[in-house]
Amino acid sequence: MNMYNTLDDFNLNNKTVLLRVDFNLPLDKNTLDILDTTRIKRALPTIKELFQKNAKTVILAHQGRQGSWDFTSLEKHAKALENLLGRKVKFIGDIFGEKAKNAIKNLQNGEVLLLDNVRKFIGETEKKSAKEHSQSDLVQNLYPLANIFVNDAFAAAHRSQCSLVGFTEVLPSCAGRLMEKELTTLRKIIEKPKKPSVFLFGGAKFSDVIVTIERLLDNKTADKIILTGLPANAFLKAEGINLGDKNEAMLQKEGTPENYNEIKKLVSKYKDKIYLPLDFAQQVNTNRSEIDLSELPTNYNLFDIGEKSIESFKNILSDAKTVFLSGPCGVFENPAFMKGTKEIFTFVAKSDVFSIVGGGHTVAAVEKLGLDNKISHISTGGGSLEKFMMGEKLPVVEALINAKNKTF
Ligand code: 3PG
Ligand code: MG
Repeated sequence: MNMYNTLDDFNLNNKTVLLRVDFNLPLDKNTLDILDTTRIKRALPTIKELFQKNAKTVILAHQGRQGSWDFTSLEKHAKALENLLGRKVKFIGDIFGEKAKNAIKNLQNGEVLLLDNVRKFIGETEKKSAKEHSQSDLVQNLYPLANIFVNDAFAAAHRSQCSLVGFTEVLPSCAGRLMEKELTTLRKIIEKPKKPSVFLFGGAKFSDVIVTIERLLDNKTADKIILTGLPANAFLKAEGINLGDKNEAMLQKEGTPENYNEIKKLVSKYKDKIYLPLDFAQQVNTNRSEIDLSELPTNYNLFDIGEKSIESFKNILSDAKTVFLSGPCGVFENPAFMKGTKEIFTFVAKSDVFSIVGGGHTVAAVEKLGLDNKISHISTGGGSLEKFMMGEKLPVVEALINAKNKTF
């Protein structure tokens, strides 16, 4: 039995449902047009179920953060949802004022309404408990108009923000279908990963990865860790390898002495469980040219792993029963440096391991390679997925668990 309610626990007919989703999407910097609608698509089963069961659906979502260039209204999101749903989606440029409240009161059974970016409300991101958030203007204005709160925003489950946790204190609440699927699938992997389990990290950031790796190895969730991309370079530098000025410059932003010390401690604790590249592909004039680890330092940028690494990583992966891919192996957007990501990801997708992919860039790489149908679970989460894999409690999940035993 689930620790939280699901849509199966409620009669939705004729009910007004507040549905929190994660429609935080990548936008074009100039036009603010939506570049990828994956997160909307993944929320469709819940939205469809709500209108098929004759509910009135009021959707709450965020985009960007106050002060960031991608902090926008959700008007384009409403159009995108309407196109994907093949059904009218009303949009109101208001969250809990008179306009929004009237639009909710006028909703008919089966209709869908998207309210504006909840982060336009300053209290949304204030650091507060679920109970404190439930006293906010947002919750206090909206909850009397609704019967049920549904949370389908797995990708934001690591945030204790007003519209994510506040309603569970005052309304009967449940997880949406996406939330349910993410939690059920990921919990299986965390609690009983089929062994051996191999976690591959890549991409262009590394400081967060250090603590994630340590936790995964401490908890025995991961048996082996493969590093590519910037995390690999950071680990090599911590081991005293000189990568060359250009490559070391790319590490500078996160390369604090504390981070390198952490890496050193981690490697001495788990030396035989962490695998690093044996060679690289560097960019020489726009071309790909392979270089051995022993030939470093180099004056060129290391943009991918080389063939020896690809073979040795495939070898490690061939024994695995569970594989988690987090971050591409190189600069896969550039065809000359796509090889490592392509070969490794294709190898995993085509084998019969249980494969999990998460994070925006990794999902984009999987889609670009046409492998999305061959991956066992593509998570919508980035930060939330990472926290979950580390065994941390997610505020949204905690709020849903607490809500299960509440009566209203
Ligand atoms: C995300 O995309 O990471 C989630 O939507 C949460 O957004 P945030 O990182 O801006 O809080
Ligand atoms: Mg984020």
